[in-house]
Amino acid sequence: MPGLFITFEGGEGTGKSTQVARLAERLSAQGGKVTVTREPGGTPAAEQLRGLLVSGETGRWSATGEALLNYAARESHLNQLIRPALSKDHVVLCDRFMDSTRAYQGYAGGCSMALIDALEEGVVGATRPDLTLVFDLDPEQGLLRARKRGDSEDRYERKGLDFHRRLRSGFLDILDREPKRCRFVDAGRSVDDVSNQVWSIVSERL
Ligand code: TMP
Repeated sequence: MPGLFITFEGGEGTGKSTQVARLAERLSAQGGKVTVTREPGGTPAAEQLRGLLVSGETGRWSATGEALLNYAARESHLNQLIRPALSKDHVVLCDRFMDSTRAYQGYAGGCSMALIDALEEGVVGATRPDLTLVFDLDPEQGLLRARKRGDSEDRYERKGLDFHRRLRSGFLDILDREPKRCRFVDAGRSVDDVSNQVWSIVSERL
């Protein structure tokens, strides 16, 4: 199995993390070398920045501040974990990546797209994902699921339904703009059904 960079994207409560774990199991069972990681996070420094982003007052950062913090975390993650793993032919499964910044900070938060384009080009550069699975779900349903988890990483969950509606249409726009890289996953189905959707998309690329 050659190195492959797969990212999982979508709104709150879309079940990405469950599917990352399921796909990792399936790929490992076939003898693949798999690295599972997430954003913001993936390195000790980036995990510290995550703590500043996902908890506390909803207004503690502007969308621009969030984009900059996410990109500081992403740069550390790319250099210290993602690029080294890809160079060892690992399949890297990343729970959120650059499209989350475009959707949350850009489409939903109103950060300048020109700034996001520049950060993407300067920091991600050639390390764009080979495949991005975009998990789509009605935001009311997603927020309900996310709230049931009841964890403290809920700063974005508290941003209101309008924010989450803009977020969903942002992700759908990203899908439209990059149909080769990005694939739609119907996250409203059962966990097994979603796993099958994910597997059929991924196995096409392997
Ligand atoms: P998670 O709970 O899905 O792991 O994600 C953490 C939160 O961070 C989630 O609410 C989305 C948000 N986020 C952004 O706003 N911008 C980003 O670039 C990333 C990676 C995450």
